[in-house]
Amino acid sequence: MRILFTGGSGKAGKHAVAYLINRGHRVLNVDQVPLAHPGVDNRIADITDAGQMFDIMASYAGYDELEPGTGVPRFDAVVHFAAIPRLLMTSDNECYRVNTLGTYNVIDAAVKSGVKKIIFASSETTYGVCFADGERKPDYLPIDEEHPVIPEDSYAMSKVVNEVTARSFQRRSGCDIYGLRINNVIEPHEYAQNFPAYLADPGMRRRNIFAYIDARDLGHMVDRCLATDGLGFQIFNVSNDDHSVAESSAALIETYYQGVPVGDIGPDETFYSNKKAKALVGYRPEHSWRMYLNKKADDGA
Ligand SMILES: NC(=O)c1ccc[n+]([C@@H]2O[C@H](COP(=O)([O-])OP(=O)(O)OC[C@H]3O[C@@H](n4cnc5c(N)ncnc54)[C@H](O)[C@@H]3O)[C@@H](O)[C@H]2O)c1
Repeated sequence: MRILFTGGSGKAGKHAVAYLINRGHRVLNVDQVPLAHPGVDNRIADITDAGQMFDIMASYAGYDELEPGTGVPRFDAVVHFAAIPRLLMTSDNECYRVNTLGTYNVIDAAVKSGVKKIIFASSETTYGVCFADGERKPDYLPIDEEHPVIPEDSYAMSKVVNEVTARSFQRRSGCDIYGLRINNVIEPHEYAQNFPAYLADPGMRRRNIFAYIDARDLGHMVDRCLATDGLGFQIFNVSNDDHSVAESSAALIETYYQGVPVGDIGPDETFYSNKKAKALVGYRPEHSWRMYLNKKADDGA
């Protein structure tokens, strides 16, 4: 597919873009900084500028597309990751402005240019646990996509608004728009860098509901969404299958979630349910911290 990918130079985007290139897709990365990756075309642009988004949506991806002499091809899909990716990076209102206006502009330009498939990055933070003032527990476990989304910070608010924006664009256009409630993204090098501390102090992971998503598995999820047509508007949790700590589900519930209603959950199964992604788009995560830190886990760390 010919894909316009926003935010492909970032932490999550660069792995997703690499995954999509490996799968044979053509990717135009739209970002404020270029991504140096073989086969990726870059366009420097600001998603908060609607004119730039409309222009690039109707643009050649690279010089080679001038050759056929048949005009500008249409993008088959848009993957929208560009954002201020958390609170406390900019002012709260700037985060809200960039994320909501940027998402409106990207989806507006895409649907008005006839793009039929749009995938956008939402966030686990919509559930209101991650960036709460103090501790907030989930209403129930495992958290599925039906769990209430009432966050209290401007970043997560922007993601809830983006989901509403996307749903409205889908209703008028009839195209497929899938939002990914991405959990905490882990790059390959971060297993060795960060996980020893998580295993030593599981409480560090409470705000992420003890879950995580390998950046390569996130790329796989994007690819599955590209391959699966006809679902209209959908929201998917995206996580790996296990907790990001070595504690069992029962031990975590005992320590952190007393009084929280708990449904079916396996001994090491993520509290951040990815069942819908598995059922509807064939998501099959391949990675686990246990593949990279086996020795430490065996040692009882
Ligand atoms: N990293 C995580 O753990 C995580 C978790 C949940 C959701 N997400 C979401 O996934 C997406 C990617 O996150 P990330 O961690 O890769 O963030 P990142 O900051 O590493 O990457 C975001 C990219 O967007 C670009 N960008 C920012 N503002 C822009 C603008 N106005 N115009 C054009 N480009 C702009 C940046 O240059 C950057 O390359 C974001 O939407 C984020 O909210 C991330």
